[in-house]
Amino acid sequence: MAVSPQPGDTMAKNVPELDVDPFCRESVRNARAVDDRIRELAPVVKLPGENVMLLGRFEHVSAGLMDWKTFSSTSRPWHDPKSVRPELLLTDDPPKHTRVRAVIGDALSRKRLASAAESFRRDADAIVSGLRARGDEPFDAVADLTQAFVYKVLPDLLGIPEEGREHMYAFGNMVWATMGPMNELFHEAMKDTEAVVEWASRVCRRESLAPGSLGMAMYEAADQGAITQDEAYLLVGILLSAAADTTVITLANAIRAFCEFPDQYRLLRENPSLIRAAFEESLRWDSPSRMAGRIATRDVEIDGYVIPAGTRCGLMFAAANRDPRRWTDPDRFDITRDNSRHLGFGYGVHACVGRILALLEADALLGAIVREIEHFELAGEPRPWMTTIGHGPESVPVRARFK
Ligand code: HEM
Repeated sequence: MAVSPQPGDTMAKNVPELDVDPFCRESVRNARAVDDRIRELAPVVKLPGENVMLLGRFEHVSAGLMDWKTFSSTSRPWHDPKSVRPELLLTDDPPKHTRVRAVIGDALSRKRLASAAESFRRDADAIVSGLRARGDEPFDAVADLTQAFVYKVLPDLLGIPEEGREHMYAFGNMVWATMGPMNELFHEAMKDTEAVVEWASRVCRRESLAPGSLGMAMYEAADQGAITQDEAYLLVGILLSAAADTTVITLANAIRAFCEFPDQYRLLRENPSLIRAAFEESLRWDSPSRMAGRIATRDVEIDGYVIPAGTRCGLMFAAANRDPRRWTDPDRFDITRDNSRHLGFGYGVHACVGRILALLEADALLGAIVREIEHFELAGEPRPWMTTIGHGPESVPVRARFK
């Protein structure tokens, strides 16, 4: 992204202002369409009434995510330092980011996670068998399947006690809300959450965590001096929030896609080796995170539009993942397309460090599903998650035909 015209320069094009609030209740219900509109309006779009600019085209979003010096993570469009969001890692640039990332990256490596695969498979099989036992009554692919699975395997892996796990959803909802504007949806997420905050701060402490767990590995890294004890505490909170609803939604969107594109589900059943490709395609097709928040550290010019230094920016994953300039037939869920460069897991230094874990969970749950279920169909309208930056269904009523 070149820098030539300067703000105020007559050469610079006027950055168009969006005529809707993309984070109000109505826009959240139609987030896909709103994000597509942002992308098509111009390469750079201004949020009404705020010093925030949004980038929605694949080329610019991926270049921006790679260029962390220009698009710094140290401030974001909405930034409340007193928020419940653990302020570490995703809120830092290298070199601070690099040191902490090495610790969490090691704990989430293929080698470290290999032993978890067997218990993931057991949990997935038990949940799918439980649904079979319910006969042909419709079920919710989120509450009864993908959330039931992730909300079991994740806290088990982290080493968090069983008691209080019912707060996981509210905790995730609060953390996601802190990434967006402090609007009505934000205040709804923050209502009556005293017990949730008390639970989350308790379970992230060392004395709550099981020996040998992923959570405890953060404190062991602190004992060895790689990070501080306070950073270990924050990392457990990050794992608890970043790993949960993203995975729940990606799996739920895959099932929604199996209903809408039955040919792709048939193909997957014939070729279960495509499970990871199907999971990655779900991420491209409908990404659970709408945008990454950054701040421009210098003036940036994109196709004649100038983002002045100090502007807070949103790099829009979901919009970019359906950019027709980059993807053929972007609205089609196609498990055979080359989706290796999708941005659903982010890109650059902050690209998702939990990807291997998410794929292992997909292997287990989608594996059990394709073995046991012949066909899916929608049994009602999916209900959207009413949050601003996170995106996806909160409920997907389905009917399944078991083998
Ligand atoms: C399908 C599931 C997942 C999706 C869609 C997802 C998405 C993302 C995205 C888009 C980013 C980049 C954010 C940015 O650049 O601002 C990210 C970063 C991150 N993710 Fe994930 N994630 C998923 C699963 C997980 C899991 C399972 C974990 C933990 C075990 C995890 C932990 C993290 C962490 C710690 C970061 C910050 C990395 C950094 O700043 O270096 N995620 N994720």
